[in-house]
Parts: sequence; C-alpha cells; structure tokens
Amino acid sequence: MITLDGKRFLVAGASSGIGAATALLLNRLGACVIAVARRADALEAVRSASAQPENFLIEPFDLTAQIAPLNAWLKAIVARTGLLDGMVHCAGVCAMVPLALVDDSHLTHTLSTNVLSAVRLAKAVLDRRHNTGKGASLVFIASTAAQHENAGLAAYAASKGAIVSLVRSLACECAPRGIRVNALSPGLIPTPQTEKLFGESLAARAALYPLGVGTPEDIAQTAAFLLSPAARWITGQNITVDGGKGLL
Ligand SMILES: NC(=O)c1ccc[n+]([C@@H]2O[C@H](COP(=O)([O-])OP(=O)(O)OC[C@H]3O[C@@H](n4cnc5c(N)ncnc54)[C@H](OP(=O)(O)O)[C@@H]3O)[C@@H](O)[C@H]2O)c1
Repeated sequence: MITLDGKRFLVAGASSGIGAATALLLNRLGACVIAVARRADALEAVRSASAQPENFLIEPFDLTAQIAPLNAWLKAIVARTGLLDGMVHCAGVCAMVPLALVDDSHLTHTLSTNVLSAVRLAKAVLDRRHNTGKGASLVFIASTAAQHENAGLAAYAASKGAIVSLVRSLACECAPRGIRVNALSPGLIPTPQTEKLFGESLAARAALYPLGVGTPEDIAQTAAFLLSPAARWITGQNITVDGGKGLL
C-alpha cells in the first residue's frame, strides 16, 4: 500500500478525466494536491469529491495562454503551501484530423497544450526554489498513440512522441539531483476527451482491450506509484498502461 502522507504534488489537467482521478487518488493517499486547469468550477467539483478537501487546493490557470506569469504564479503557490514533491502533467487535447485538413491553428493548439505547456511547467517545478530536491518525481501523461498506427492523429501522435523523448532528456538532467522523471502511456480510457473524440463508438472500442475497459483510476494508480518512494529506482521510462492491447 502506497502512502503519500506529507507529500505535495501539482496535478495539471485536474478538472477532468485522468487528471481528476489522479488528483483524487493522491489526495486519498495523504498528499496535498495543487489542482490546476482552466475551469475553476470543474476543479471545485473535483475537490468536493475529494477525501481531504482541506488538502486539495484549487489553482485555475491556463497553461497555454498564461506563459509569462507561470514562474511567478508557481513561486506564489510554493510560498503558500511549501516545496513540491513533484507533479503530474495531464493537461492535453486530442482531435482526429486527416493530414489534408491539418492547419496551423490545429498544430499550434495541440503542440502548445500537450508539449510546450509540459516543458514550461517542468522548468518552473524543477527550479530549485520550488521543489524538495532528492526524492522528487515528475510524471507526464503521453499516449500509446505514439507507439501504434492511428490514422488522423498526426499532430497528437507527434506531441505524445515528443513527451516520451522529453522525459528521457529531463531524466538524465535531473538524476544528479535525485529527481526522477517518467512518462505514462495510457491506452484508450473513457473520459470527456475520448467521449468527444469517438462518440457512440467509444464503448465498443474501449471493450476491445484484452483486460476489458480501463478507467482513469487505472492510470492514476500508476502515476501514484511513480510519484512514490516505491519507484525510487525508476527514471527516464515510458510505462504503458493499456490492458494488454500492445500484446495484440
Ligand atoms: N483518455 C484517453 O484514452 C487517453 C489515452 C492516452 C493519453 N491520454 C492523455 O491523458 C491526458 C488526460 O486526458 P483525458 O482523457 O483525461 O482528457 P480530458 O478529460 O479532456 O482532460 C484534459 C485536461 O486538460 C486540461 N487542460 C486542457 N487545456 C489546458 C490548458 N490550456 N491549461 C490548463 N489545463 C488544460 C483540461 O482542463 P480545463 O478544460 O478545465 O482547462 C482537463 O482537465 C491527456 O494528455 C491525454 O492526451 C488520454
């Protein structure tokens, strides 16, 4: 049984889906959670479902639009709450667009949300004044879309491949400080994002996995492990959590 008592984690994309499940699980395991996303009302709804609402802090922030204030914003959070033991970057967007219809706005939106916001947030969290140093852990949600063939996902698949590569470089850079950096690649999980993407065909697609339909909680459990001291010798990895789909 993992416990995260006394730890403090920022979860980006905590208002929905995998990020919400991760924030709730970390909080249930004893951690103080700083929940970040654009929609304050949705973050508030997640907090109202938390095991320790007094340990679940809401910080509405747009990770693609509020670029210049990011470091000062995090500095103020840390001054109020204390140094971070790590973060999980779950903020992301996905749209299925054939290449002929991919335009600059789609590319910029996808790469800015899925990659640039992750790099910027990592930079702010890894500032020595903002984290606990040795033992801290960063987790980035990538996707099996970076590993498997999926028509219509050029921008999304590229963005998730970038996350896997980012993690390897950051892991090398952070290892001398005792800080671990890993990626987690989920298969298809029913969430608001995939409901929008697949509509009525989602349930049938999700049920094709050898171990059946996965849940946001399945991904959250792996994120919690990667953040915990139990994963102290794991860094630079991309952990696939896909109900055995990769075996097919
Ligand atoms: N579900 C799956 O099958 C699956 C599979 C593989 C990988 N993933 C990845 O897992 C992550 C979470 O996906 P999900 O399915 O849980 O999606 P989701 O339910 O749509 O959640 C996405 C989260 O990202 C936040 N977000 C988006 N743009 C943001 C911005 N500019 N600033 C701050 N927060 C922002 C959203 O909050 P606001 O709208 O409130 O800002 C929301 O909390 C994504 O990176 C996704 O690509 C999902």
